[in-house]
Amino acid sequence: MSTNDRSNDVAGPDGKVATRDAANRVLIFDTTLRDGEQSPGISLNKQEKLEIAHQLARLNVDVIEAGFPITSPGDFESVQAISREVEGPIICGLARTSKQDIEAAWNAVRDSERPRIHTFIATSDIHIERKLQTTREDVKGQVRAAVAQAREYTDDVEFSPEDGSRSDVEYMAEVIQIALDEGATTINVPDTVGYTMPREYNAMFTELYRLVPDLRKVVVSVHCHDDLGLAVANSLAGLEAGCRQVECAINGIGERAGNASLEEIAMLLHTRQPSLGLWTGIETTEIARTSRLVSRLTGYQVQPNKAIVGRNAFAHEAGIHQDGVLKERTTYEIMDATTVGLRSNSIVLGKHSGRHALSEALQEMGFELDGQALNTAFKRFKEIADRKKQVTAMDLEALVTDELREEIPGYALEWFEVEASSLRPPHARVSITLPDGTSATGSFMGDGPIDAVFQAINAASGMGAKLNDFTIGAVTEGQDALGEVSIVVEVGGFTGAGQGVSTDIIDAAARAYVRALSVAVARSQTDAAIGLPEGAAG
Ligand code: KIV
Ligand code: ZN
Repeated sequence: MSTNDRSNDVAGPDGKVATRDAANRVLIFDTTLRDGEQSPGISLNKQEKLEIAHQLARLNVDVIEAGFPITSPGDFESVQAISREVEGPIICGLARTSKQDIEAAWNAVRDSERPRIHTFIATSDIHIERKLQTTREDVKGQVRAAVAQAREYTDDVEFSPEDGSRSDVEYMAEVIQIALDEGATTINVPDTVGYTMPREYNAMFTELYRLVPDLRKVVVSVHCHDDLGLAVANSLAGLEAGCRQVECAINGIGERAGNASLEEIAMLLHTRQPSLGLWTGIETTEIARTSRLVSRLTGYQVQPNKAIVGRNAFAHEAGIHQDGVLKERTTYEIMDATTVGLRSNSIVLGKHSGRHALSEALQEMGFELDGQALNTAFKRFKEIADRKKQVTAMDLEALVTDELREEIPGYALEWFEVEASSLRPPHARVSITLPDGTSATGSFMGDGPIDAVFQAINAASGMGAKLNDFTIGAVTEGQDALGEVSIVVEVGGFTGAGQGVSTDIIDAAARAYVRALSVAVARSQTDAAIGLPEGAAG
């Protein structure tokens, strides 16, 4: 077990002091890049996954489930890159029980300092009979072989009986015993379909501990989906039954209604530590930034009233509440916003700030930019500072993570003009740089100014890109706030996501569209080169 505790005793908001003992340390297993990435419409490229993985390491999660390597060459490469570059957490790859799956998972994680293979197979009768179309005995055999194979590669092996919460507990106990006999070191029992309730999930673990006493020698883990809105409550119920690993995802993203949200689990255990006695190694001040990064790169916006990371999570509307908080914060606030990294907007630059000031501000925020990247950042900063009174840390973070995080070879926006009127359809003209470095212009009469610009970009690029998703938000409050646009486009069956920021939403949208187009075209070229239509192997 990794212990990242900085001190042994901790005082809760109520002043009670609780001791952090090793037996109560809860491991945070982040599955944003695996289960989270299975959310409809999310398609992260390798660079984006790496960026999220680095931030998860800063957040100090214990395990990063980086992907499901057998499902596509792209997923394999991302898991491999994360294993090679990201230091600190255990890097885990998911595998079914087949030989090829486990081999692919191992090859993807083997370069990590701390590799883990996570293998799973369903143990509920409905999954065994209908999905796998096999027998309980066959599943047992598959588990035996899979865990044994994984243990030949590494001594860190996790096994999950999928649909565990709907499985016959006695049969599941036999399967778990086999996994333990073959050397599994973590047993994760998922509520795959988000069906269970806290007392049921707790009772299931109590029964499993009774039937399989060897479970006390390994880490037992919870993995809950949010179909009935109970993922966090069920996870807590499992922890109260003795589990010491939680599988969760930033912003609660994941299959269907999503996974238990990491930030909610982390802050629940942090805030109620004196009463629960459980604790994690999470660097809570990195929570808000991690949430914003995942939201930007996935295009999944966080609902305003979302616990911990929603825009309103620490806002007080009623006068009586505002008055109370002004007199004494804890009258209405159970957590301090700074604990989760909110309200740390101290950096403010203006239009007279120079390159050096920008570079220092970026460094203070953890962004190392130099050479050409710093030049580009400075140029974009000046464009924004010319239109905005103050450029804050939140603005800089949006700029760097949305537009400057990597050079995507492809198209670049040069300029656009739009004529918009309520009397006739808007007309747009754009000029873009093509991948070969030449310029091309296009024009179009669209349904609205943004649509006209998108279609004009299509005309200039000669690409029949289709807009799949479009979201728009404001980076900060106020009339001169930066607008932030996130877009997903599809080109010949390949999707690409792009983001853009600007004080002008048409400009932000055009920048996002060109980026998304570049990503989709680049993906179509790499995947087509290896003969794979999108999602083929999954
Ligand atoms: O929900 C689930 O059962 C899973 C397993 C692969 C752990 O995601
Ligand atoms: Zn899951």
